[in-house]
Amino acid sequence: MSASDLFSIAGKAALVTGGTRGIGKMIAEGFVDAGAVVYISSRKAGACAEVAAELSAKGTCYGIPADLSTEGGCRGLADEMVSRLDRLDILVNNAGAAWGAPLAEFDETAFEKVLALNVKGVFHLTRFLVPLLQASGTSEAPARVINIGSIDGLCVPLVENYAYSSSKAAVHHLTRHLARRLAPAITVNAIAPGPFESKMMAATLEAFGEQIAANAPLKRIGRPDDMAGAAIYLSSRAGAYLTGAVIPVDGGIATTR
Ligand SMILES: NC(=O)c1ccc[n+]([C@@H]2O[C@H](COP(=O)([O-])OP(=O)(O)OC[C@H]3O[C@@H](n4cnc5c(N)ncnc54)[C@H](OP(=O)(O)O)[C@@H]3O)[C@@H](O)[C@H]2O)c1
Repeated sequence: MSASDLFSIAGKAALVTGGTRGIGKMIAEGFVDAGAVVYISSRKAGACAEVAAELSAKGTCYGIPADLSTEGGCRGLADEMVSRLDRLDILVNNAGAAWGAPLAEFDETAFEKVLALNVKGVFHLTRFLVPLLQASGTSEAPARVINIGSIDGLCVPLVENYAYSSSKAAVHHLTRHLARRLAPAITVNAIAPGPFESKMMAATLEAFGEQIAANAPLKRIGRPDDMAGAAIYLSSRAGAYLTGAVIPVDGGIATTR
């Protein structure tokens, strides 16, 4: 098999949640560029339509709005995918939310919001899409689930984001648990990103971006190709023999700490 075949995802059907901006858009755009048929989702219908149109200029991309912080929203998106496709090759559970507050003020609302999307949303959407993923996957060529965790779920962060860091540790363990349950037809892996430019990271990078880059062993923050590359690897023949793995894509920030 040639290197280009080994990493090919041409013609595969992929769903990227939170694909309208930030890390989700980096992955969606990388998939479109690589010839996949890509569905993106987020709450805002306008953003879904706009980004799908932008990415369709160089490939195939469709937008489907959904709020994934409720079980019903996850069911609705899965039903919509079932009505459009007879198989799904790649699911990227990327949509996520963060919350920062001092310990004394870190109340129930923060935990409810963050866990509902970051943990329960990943779980429910995956379980509702299992039949569509199983329609694609075999033990020789498994379907892929890629969960977006965080290095904040691997190492204790400096910022006070208790619900977020614990939600990401939960995503990493959920990845291992689902990997065991869904093998051999579906692999489940996680990417744990370090700092990448996005709306979620905008304030942090504006205030501390240079410092974060200077302190990173690889001396920069992540670029879109770094994220797309890891997701394409996990989605292609090259990544077929990994499941239950949590891969940091962080310039060495957490891995060398
Ligand atoms: N950027 C980083 O440095 C970094 C580092 C580590 C991990 N991550 C993780 O990477 C993922 C993406 O983060 P990001 O930085 O790219 O964030 P972002 O720029 O805020 O993007 C979040 C995406 O999720 C969607 N979304 C938010 N709430 C949703 C909901 N309830 N239902 C469905 N979609 C929803 C947003 O669109 P709508 O507002 O239209 O819903 C948007 O498309 C998250 O899981 C995050 O924890 C990011």
